[in-house]
Amino acid sequence: MCGIVGYVGQDNAGPILFDTLKRLEYRGYDSAGVAIASDGEVLVLKSAGSISDLEKGYIDIGSPGENRGVGHTRWATHGPPSTKNAHPHTSGAVSIVHNGIIENYLELKEHLIDQGFEFESETDSEVLAHLTNFYYQGDLAEAVRAATSMVEGSYALAVMAADSSYLVCARKDSPIVIGLGEGANYLASDIPALLPYTRKVFWMKDGEIAIIDEEKVDIRDKFGDLVPIHLETVDWDPKAAEKSGYPHFMLKEIHEQPKAVQETLASRISEIEGDVKLETGLSDEEARRLDRASIVACGTSYNASILARYVFPRAAGLPVDVEVASEFQSIQLKPSTLLIGISQSGETADTLTALRRGRACGVGSLAITNVVGSTITRQVDGTVYTRCGPEIGVAATKTFTGQLVALFLLAIRLGRARNFLGCEDARKMLLELTRLPGLIQEVVDGRERIREIAESYADTDRYFFIGREFLYPIALEGALKMKEISYISAEGYPAGELKHGPLALVTEGTPVVALATYGKKIQTNIKEVGARGADVIALATAGDPDICKIATTVVEIPETRPVFSAVLCTVAVQLLAYYTARAKGLPIDKPRNLAKSVTVE
Ligand code: G6P
Repeated sequence: MCGIVGYVGQDNAGPILFDTLKRLEYRGYDSAGVAIASDGEVLVLKSAGSISDLEKGYIDIGSPGENRGVGHTRWATHGPPSTKNAHPHTSGAVSIVHNGIIENYLELKEHLIDQGFEFESETDSEVLAHLTNFYYQGDLAEAVRAATSMVEGSYALAVMAADSSYLVCARKDSPIVIGLGEGANYLASDIPALLPYTRKVFWMKDGEIAIIDEEKVDIRDKFGDLVPIHLETVDWDPKAAEKSGYPHFMLKEIHEQPKAVQETLASRISEIEGDVKLETGLSDEEARRLDRASIVACGTSYNASILARYVFPRAAGLPVDVEVASEFQSIQLKPSTLLIGISQSGETADTLTALRRGRACGVGSLAITNVVGSTITRQVDGTVYTRCGPEIGVAATKTFTGQLVALFLLAIRLGRARNFLGCEDARKMLLELTRLPGLIQEVVDGRERIREIAESYADTDRYFFIGREFLYPIALEGALKMKEISYISAEGYPAGELKHGPLALVTEGTPVVALATYGKKIQTNIKEVGARGADVIALATAGDPDICKIATTVVEIPETRPVFSAVLCTVAVQLLAYYTARAKGLPIDKPRNLAKSVTVE
């Protein structure tokens, strides 16, 4: 989705705005713009294309500007990418940047046109500029309050005026994090933008208005009353949001998985008790009263959720429904259901809406997320953090494996709380989980083999990924990764279901990735596609005597408990997608049409 930034301090705002915007480029990258105070006026630079190109234009005109400004990187919704649709939008002395959707913009636009305002863009956001200007009589915060009271929809809004020395921002259903520095303050849509400048941050809440100058930040509620700020210190290392010598963030993040999984596990496992310490917000008594879990999520997080369908009944005696968040029907929920939202960013609008609807049924709720303090954490009774560090590549990698591991931990915790899982069984599972970082490293170390395979099929127009049970979500994730970054049509299928339709698409040389670290039935499916001419790339347990006889190519996966091999297979399919996209010379970290964090429904 779009990213917004803002700066007020003692330095020239321009370079800081461009730097922070580049750190948010994963949220949108079809156009960009900045508004910078300059000689009592506001200099607006914007264009379709990259932030770096825009920055060159800024340097070419002599890098003008003073100590405050706002910036925007766009992922188009209303109106195609173009200079006129790029933000900031300006009206009189007022310039705004906006992330979100103004649902009643047509009605407001007509009203503003009647008042004599002229519109330049096709965006919904421009109404916010004119409305704020309409109400602006020297008090920018008051004007923003009046303007936002007129709009329906979602907004993370940052506003500046030529004749005010401060910035104002407002939020409803779209994230804004404010960072406090020394003699300077910042705002952004997400934490990675701020890491080089400050790690003292707080997230704005819905309905709040922030007034930011270089010395202080005032937060006011919808009645105009000051509200206290609860600062958090982000423990992410600023280097974690840099490429550190890797050609792409995605490759770096794949390599970071041993450490990410280590962090997800860190200090949560009690070997003596055969249990897990998790911040679920549920007492053991409450866990025992549950008879179902219902999970909502989108994209990669949805794929991770499907793992729970196989793991929770076996480890915790708890059946699980999994729903794509935008299709969630909350009417099914009984009070004995635990509602779980999974979201890397904690800001995905579809997931937040589904959780809100579900909670209205009176159920207990839990979030699994990677971002401390994100919106999802304020909507639920308990939060399990994946602790993977910032993820910048649009295609999720380390946070997916973090989610899988968090789900294993949660299943064990619930199993223990519900007296379903014995201490010794839990202990064995936990012990094996602690081996995962080392085993993931082995898969990463075997990447050259995967690279060769990827390169030899880089020209194919179709891929299949098949798996059964807990390997089925990994088939979905492998196909999603392949689609997202290599633009190859890819289907993830339950291996047994392929013969009921998609098999018609398998022809001579079609690459079929078979997740074969578990079960005998997958061997039948491998033979089925092999008999139709497919090239089977099997991910099989090292030393498996059977698979190598029936597959075209085998990638060996280190031996572990079958269910945990899902994590290891994940790393292999991520590498396959990565090296395919790389062989095709595609923009891996910023695939076309996609954004990392989608804050509109
Ligand atoms: C976007 C991203 C996906 C991501 C999905 C859900 O569509 O491009 O990679 O899986 O959002 O994001 P979340 O932050 O909720 O996990």
